[in-house]
Amino acid sequence: MTQSGAVRSVPLSRVEIDDEIRARVIAAVDSGQYILGPECKALEKELAASLDRQHAVLLANATAGLMLTLDALGVGSGDEVLVPAHTAFPTIEAIFQSGARPVFVDIDESYCLDPSWLEPRITARTRAIVPVHLYGHPCDLDAITDVARRHGLFVLEDCAQAQGAGWRERKVGSFGVAGVLSFYPSKNLPTLGDGGAVVTDDEGLARKLRMLRDHGRKEKLTHDVVGWNLRFNEIQAAATRVLLRRLDASNEGRRRVAARYAELLKGLPLGLPHEAKNAHHVYHLYVVRTPERDALQKHLKAAGVGTGIHYPVPNHLQPATLGRAGVRSEALPRTEAACREILSLPCFGSMRDDEVAYVAQAVREFFATKGA
Ligand SMILES: Cc1ncc(COP(=O)(O)O)c(C=O)c1O
Repeated sequence: MTQSGAVRSVPLSRVEIDDEIRARVIAAVDSGQYILGPECKALEKELAASLDRQHAVLLANATAGLMLTLDALGVGSGDEVLVPAHTAFPTIEAIFQSGARPVFVDIDESYCLDPSWLEPRITARTRAIVPVHLYGHPCDLDAITDVARRHGLFVLEDCAQAQGAGWRERKVGSFGVAGVLSFYPSKNLPTLGDGGAVVTDDEGLARKLRMLRDHGRKEKLTHDVVGWNLRFNEIQAAATRVLLRRLDASNEGRRRVAARYAELLKGLPLGLPHEAKNAHHVYHLYVVRTPERDALQKHLKAAGVGTGIHYPVPNHLQPATLGRAGVRSEALPRTEAACREILSLPCFGSMRDDEVAYVAQAVREFFATKGA
């Protein structure tokens, strides 16, 4: 992190596009191959290797990855999937699209699925657990995989916000039957638009996913099953290959930003993120917490600081969920309290020290006006 000119505004996130990426994109354009060609094949190999898995299957986005994996595993109508309500709606949408029903569980102090909620909610219909490594923090994978093993459930990891995060010695995405990645532009590993992938060691699952993403075919004109068009493309794969090589450095940048915020925001009446024992956090989002969230957000906006609320309406209370038949509703006290108080501050790998200092100063000013 270096200093540069006077900071007047800081975005919530920023993708760094440079000449190397532009050159790779132009080369892909000039190649004349646009869908699932050599760049995609190379990226699939590199992604699988980076997460110590046998296979990676590129897709149009992570929502598709969750939906197609549930489908390929045979999870569907009448089945139940345990999932935290505190996640991006697409996690839940994919479960609905598969035909299964989400069974919502609450979160722990790291904002991830609280494993103690799982066992009491397992029924004869439960087939899978979808832990969401939210904000870049891994779920407690010891406890989750233990429950899954004892009850014969699939673990499908939603790693959309946590590429590169770790639990003990391993990266997230390498614990369950499969892990789902998102390359949405604000994610830790972005692409130039939408994109995603599923990583797995299960060859049969990878084969089914390759068919489902491409109209249910293995060969050009023979369609074995009814699938979808959810393929990835060469131009975006070319850019993402470069960004994958930079992922570890970028995640280290995010960790430096988080450490600096922790110093600069110390002593304020503000909840700061924490990193659990055994966890390697990659700070997709730097989420602070205060009952004065809305006023703080307004103050930061006036100072030119981009913020976000991830998420203001928990998924068990979303209109789309409340309108679905058969979804059990249960109060989720930690989730509901968090949704009222959380605020995401700018955090990205290339964020400079003067930008971090600017945001922290603006937060301090807010509390100074309150006499804190
Ligand atoms: C936790 C989580 N899961 C799934 C998704 C869906 O990702 P995509 O936009 O690539 O479909 C997102 C993206 O917002 C997410 O944050």
